[in-house]
Amino acid sequence: MRFLPHLFEKNRAWAARHTEHDPAFFERLCAIQRPDYLWIGCADSRVPANAIVGMAPGELFVHRNVGNVVHADDQNCVAVVQYAIEVLRVSHVIVCGHYRCGGIQAAFGPSMTGPIEAWISHIRKVRVQHADELSGLPDDDARWKRLCDLNVIEQVRVLSGLPIVLDAWARGQQLDIHGWIYDLHDGLLRDLEVSVNAPPK
Ligand code: CO
Repeated sequence: MRFLPHLFEKNRAWAARHTEHDPAFFERLCAIQRPDYLWIGCADSRVPANAIVGMAPGELFVHRNVGNVVHADDQNCVAVVQYAIEVLRVSHVIVCGHYRCGGIQAAFGPSMTGPIEAWISHIRKVRVQHADELSGLPDDDARWKRLCDLNVIEQVRVLSGLPIVLDAWARGQQLDIHGWIYDLHDGLLRDLEVSVNAPPK
């Protein structure tokens, strides 16, 4: 193996662990994909979706980007949401942010250039919408942490207004959207208690 042999080595060991006690493990996965959950999380390497909820391959459909942003004009994200809801028929969409998120921190910083600034601008808007609450917090760390929460809450709101989601609810499909936050300090998830399963009134 010419490039990155250690990764192929790790891959062989990983595959072997799965087939050791269950030789048909991968064959079964080939046959069907039926996850019950769509996870929309941050691309941060410290927040590996399957690992932190202890899920095996096949159990979680995943979309990750910088700052776990859902935007109606982002065809990548919206296509994932559509496929998850209309084809896989997941029952739950989880937006999971995390504390100490670099994408969220960037929304407090100076304007950057290129695609990253276009992306971060979505989070800057959330910051501006909640400027009063954020300015009332004691320090920058508290503001950073709170914007991590507020950003998740905003993405749940955006999701619950997407035509794909509204159509699913209109035809009676069971679909819950949840907002969670992951704490790097203890490895634990917290439910922000903004779950919705029907259109906003
Ligand atoms: Co992040």
